[in-house]
Amino acid sequence: MPVHPMDEIPIRKFRFKFDAVEGHDPVWSRSCPDFSIFINALGVHVPHFERFLVKSMRAYRDELQDEKLSLDVKAIIGQESHHAFNFEKWTAEMCKRYKGLAAINDHAKTYFLNAFENGSRKFRIGFTAGYETFTFLGGIIVLQRYAELMEEADPTIRALWVWHQVEEIEHGSVAFDFYRAFYPKDEWYRRMMVVFAYIHIIWETFKAYAHMIKTEGFYRKPMRALKAWRFFISFGLDFGISALPTLSRHYHPRNHPSCTTNQTLIAVAWKEFHAAGNDVQLLRDADVDQMLGALQSA
Ligand SMILES: [Fe+2]
Ligand SMILES: [Fe+2]
Repeated sequence: MPVHPMDEIPIRKFRFKFDAVEGHDPVWSRSCPDFSIFINALGVHVPHFERFLVKSMRAYRDELQDEKLSLDVKAIIGQESHHAFNFEKWTAEMCKRYKGLAAINDHAKTYFLNAFENGSRKFRIGFTAGYETFTFLGGIIVLQRYAELMEEADPTIRALWVWHQVEEIEHGSVAFDFYRAFYPKDEWYRRMMVVFAYIHIIWETFKAYAHMIKTEGFYRKPMRALKAWRFFISFGLDFGISALPTLSRHYHPRNHPSCTTNQTLIAVAWKEFHAAGNDVQLLRDADVDQMLGALQSA
């Protein structure tokens, strides 16, 4: 069995070249175009949350007693800072096509700036834990459905999302443990923050998705628009249903089967491929074949 993904949280500094995206087309997955729009839409507000997480953890990490957790917090801050940098660049690239996206992005940025500024210590730590519940589960869902969602896709944006999802799984218990370190007995507040974060993620994604499919001309073909909205609802529901076990007081991200007995092939292969010195900022079909082939022959 591969090592537990949370045992090591390396900080990988990547700078993706978004001007190299094929045809400058934001609809980057041919396997599932609706997924590429969904994840593009979701990714618009994500860097603003990631900066919120970084500020919240920096504000309180000196109060931690657990040395191992302090090291993990340092690692998550590093990983999320690189995520935010790259997502902001991708949003800027998408704004060239989606003219209303800049306003949606600005609104999300202001929301998180205000949430940090006006939020209590408990809200900052709790909201961070609530949100990270979904970045962790999203990492698992997307990588488990890799073939269906992005087997045929642009190599740059595919590489961006595989990297991000792998790292969200690696640091998937840090915000949870951070919350528990400060509020070990208050499970109800954590649960409330899980629900609040879910509603917020869906709402932010909905706004950007609606704008994107309109710009792509889907409303000129009602069946196409219907298909796109069906995807949105079913993916959003899968996301929500996957979070039900997180409401249990016995839940811990570390025990999720996708971290123990049922790790996704693509995540394990990607980490080994990167550790072997290969460039993973561009995942062409041949790279993915090589990556999976190396794992199977090991
Ligand atoms: Fe992230
Ligand atoms: Fe994260």
